[in-house]
Amino acid sequence: MKIYRFKQVPSTNDVAKEIALQGERDFVVVSDEQTKGKGRMGREWKSPPGGLYFSIVTEKNPHLPLIVGVSVASALKDFGLSPVLKWPNDVMIGNKKISGILIECLDDFAVVGVGVNISKTPMETATSIKDETGKNVSKDAVLKSILKNFEKNKKKTVLDEYKKLCSTIGRKVKIKTLNKVIKGKAVDVDEHGKLVLESGERIVSGDVIHLR
Ligand code: BTN
Repeated sequence: MKIYRFKQVPSTNDVAKEIALQGERDFVVVSDEQTKGKGRMGREWKSPPGGLYFSIVTEKNPHLPLIVGVSVASALKDFGLSPVLKWPNDVMIGNKKISGILIECLDDFAVVGVGVNISKTPMETATSIKDETGKNVSKDAVLKSILKNFEKNKKKTVLDEYKKLCSTIGRKVKIKTLNKVIKGKAVDVDEHGKLVLESGERIVSGDVIHLR
């Protein structure tokens, strides 16, 4: 896959989108820092130098959230970590976030944005590879490993692997969706990546808080 490298951009997702709108597909945009990094649910993703920030432009696929979550978690295992996935795809070490994923779908392609904390922990609720392992790993090695896992996982069903990694299943949860807050027990994730509650309700997207 072709990789476009930048020192600083507002958001790799936005740069990737601009390039894709000119007709290019299957490429990666990576930047040393972002001045307007975007998180899920309209939040900011703090992106100081020292983190890994990249976006992949790929074909649309309803399983992308599961595929990307599993790919990032599997890659981090190779660096000595034991990550879990908080639904839908926050990559966590215990209850601290180490990586976030933002997927934006356009007419005929998807932009998969991934941020990984490598050496800095930009927030109290976050952690980094350096904090967890004491090691300085190369950003490029992490990028390569994620891309390798992504290429492999794109071609197969990852639902079982996702469920094994998902720490939300079996938990009492509070979910903030765009227009309501739902409480319940998470019992499963279905083949479309929806979170299934004990009540039978299926949640398409939202922010999950694990309750005790
Ligand atoms: C989240 O957990 O809220 C998602 C965070 C996604 C951050 C990445 S960093 C690279 C790409 N570019 C962005 O502006 N956001 C994503």
